[in-house]
Amino acid sequence: MTKKEFTRPSIENDTIESLSARLLDANSQLSEANRRLQELQRQRSEMLANISHDLRAPITAIRSAVDYLTSGQELTPEDRLSSLQLIDRRTGTLESLIEDMYYLFCVEDTSKELNRQSISASGFLEEYFYDALADSRYSRHTLRLDIDEAMAGTICIDIQKIVRVLDNLLGNAAKYAAEGTEILLKAVCPADEEHLAVSVLDHGKGIPQEALEHIFERTYTVSSARTPCSAAGSGLGLSIVKAIVERHGGTVSCESREGEGSCFTFTLPLTG
Ligand SMILES: Nc1ncnc2c1ncn2[C@@H]1O[C@H](COP(=O)(O)OP(=O)(O)O)[C@@H](O)[C@H]1O
Ligand SMILES: [Mg+2]
Repeated sequence: MTKKEFTRPSIENDTIESLSARLLDANSQLSEANRRLQELQRQRSEMLANISHDLRAPITAIRSAVDYLTSGQELTPEDRLSSLQLIDRRTGTLESLIEDMYYLFCVEDTSKELNRQSISASGFLEEYFYDALADSRYSRHTLRLDIDEAMAGTICIDIQKIVRVLDNLLGNAAKYAAEGTEILLKAVCPADEEHLAVSVLDHGKGIPQEALEHIFERTYTVSSARTPCSAAGSGLGLSIVKAIVERHGGTVSCESREGEGSCFTFTLPLTG
């Protein structure tokens, strides 16, 4: 077995100044790592608090409806029906919340491989668009497709997951923009030619400027967006979009003006 030789650091070659500069540098890197750790811990606690809050609200509503139904008081058939309908709706909210949370945890788990396939970028988007045209979720809006004519690249993606990204973005556009307005699915190859940029534009109510930098955070709640009364949606849709896009090596951003509309853009690396 060979012995490892340890050598004394040579102070002669290093001036005291350069040693102390390196020490200061190491110290500031340590402080930065510590700050990041604290931020992650804060986000984690906030996320757990949000999850408990989100789960508690529908459960409380279901509990009171069950208490009402089993209270022994005389109930009209209408009362009974409306309590059962409330239980049905709130159970649906719980189901979609739990499904979305589980989906998000799975996407973020990097030990789970993506099911990637190489596919033509424009072919994939065209096929998605024609499916969306036939989808009743978007039938109250006018869908339009605009693909850069010069686009000829290939992307290597988990198709189901990128479809989920597009569904979430188109779903939001349809949810937050008035009936009859146009939703545009647009794709361009930026000048670097290394990425494809896909945008979903709507003419809806827009997003307040101060909320824009937070909407992708899993821990963030935009006003009443996560109350159980909001139309089916867990408030996790954009966190899922971000997690999927980032696992593909892309980025996602949003530009929006209140009262005018929003434009969500995500990028994907082109592989050929
Ligand atoms: N196209 C859009 N137009 C206006 N607001 C939007 C749009 N997309 C997202 N938002 C805002 O961002 C929030 C988070 O979106 P998301 O994560 O998809 O949750 P959800 O749609 O379930 O509320 C929404 O509650 C809404 O306030
Ligand atoms: Mg949504």
